[in-house]
Amino acid sequence: MPPPDVVLGVGGGIAAYKACELLRLFTESGHAVTVVPTASALRFVGEPTWSALSGRPVATEVWEHVHEVPHVRIGRHADLVVVAPATADLLAKAAHGLAEDLLTNTLLTATCPVVFAPAMHTEMWEHPATQENVATLRRRGLSVIEPAVGRLTGADTGKGRLPDPAAIFEYCRSLLARGSAAPDLAGLHVVVSAGGTREPIDPVRFIGNRSSGKQGFALAATAAARGARVTLVAANTALPEPAGVEVVKVSTTAQLRDAVRAAAAHADVVVMAAAVADFRPAEAAASKIKKSDDSSAPDIRLVQNPHILRELGHSRIRPGQTVVGFAAETGDPGRTWLEHGRAKLAKYGVDLLVVNQVGTDLTFGADHSAAVVIGADGSEEPVPDGPKGRLADIIWDRVLKVRSRTD
Ligand code: CTP
Repeated sequence: MPPPDVVLGVGGGIAAYKACELLRLFTESGHAVTVVPTASALRFVGEPTWSALSGRPVATEVWEHVHEVPHVRIGRHADLVVVAPATADLLAKAAHGLAEDLLTNTLLTATCPVVFAPAMHTEMWEHPATQENVATLRRRGLSVIEPAVGRLTGADTGKGRLPDPAAIFEYCRSLLARGSAAPDLAGLHVVVSAGGTREPIDPVRFIGNRSSGKQGFALAATAAARGARVTLVAANTALPEPAGVEVVKVSTTAQLRDAVRAAAAHADVVVMAAAVADFRPAEAAASKIKKSDDSSAPDIRLVQNPHILRELGHSRIRPGQTVVGFAAETGDPGRTWLEHGRAKLAKYGVDLLVVNQVGTDLTFGADHSAAVVIGADGSEEPVPDGPKGRLADIIWDRVLKVRSRTD
């Protein structure tokens, strides 16, 4: 199969420099990318940069290579068009069907999924004109990612920042993998926990684990790309926030439990992808524990944490809520790893359990994973080793199947 053909439209905003990083993510993962900057985008990042990074010629106007009819050809052959940054001006032109340069012509001829990643000052984003244009584009089935909140040009801070290039890439990757921009999770509120909890021993030390949070973040990003309202409860992660996702940051198991349960009160689906500490010190010292001179060490008494997944599975916070858990299992002489997974699904009363087989070579922070998704209905779907985003899409497919049976 030829690599997916991506058109990267670049608007005239300072965030154009971040689109270089997005372009690299596409090309390094085997996508063929045609960059179509606007004339003002070229004032921020010049043509040679786009051309060198994409390995393709770059055009801005419809008057170049006219015999190839680029204003029709580029849009028609694309598998995905992503505009990053999408300025207020570009959103307005797209909403009104204006076609004055190559990018706006391409937007009118594209029949594939189209994604806009806006970046602008908060006032421009919140202006009713922009909001109405965004609503028009979304009504037509185009994806407009919510801008991130953070530092803007100059000293300003607020909503309007371009989402992290990795988050835009993940959003696009999910659309391309499904071959459709159909928001099949629209109308669902999903809660995903990610990362690993930390239990304080004293103000500077903790008991923790090596979870990177990548699987949970991939679940949140793909759910948002598929139209869900997403709350991501992130414990001690250092990953860029996924585009269009509400992120609640926590540290301890107690905080994670409170945040997940509060969000779950209004949610249709809860996915517990976080690595939750099973134990915590019975008491955290108020001040730093000092070494003694006689080389003795303190005894730290541990108590067990509540099992958040089991609570969610056995007493559903909302009727009809779908609950998904994860399990990393090894086999032993009594049971295979999959049999352990099946027993755990029943023990926790969940709808789906994603079981990873782990061995002695357990690696943390990997970008890929293999698993079997098992269901309370006895279904078992093996997912071969692949990107965590792909596993995330398969989990959401399974969630939709579970829900179609219960609706
Ligand atoms: N989990 C949870 N609350 C805990 C511990 C784990 O909600 N206190 C969730 C995790 O988010 C994950 C699943 O439970 O979805 C993992 O199952 P679990 O049996 O707790 O995993 P292990 O600790 O690996 O199990 P075991 O006791 O078999 O070693």
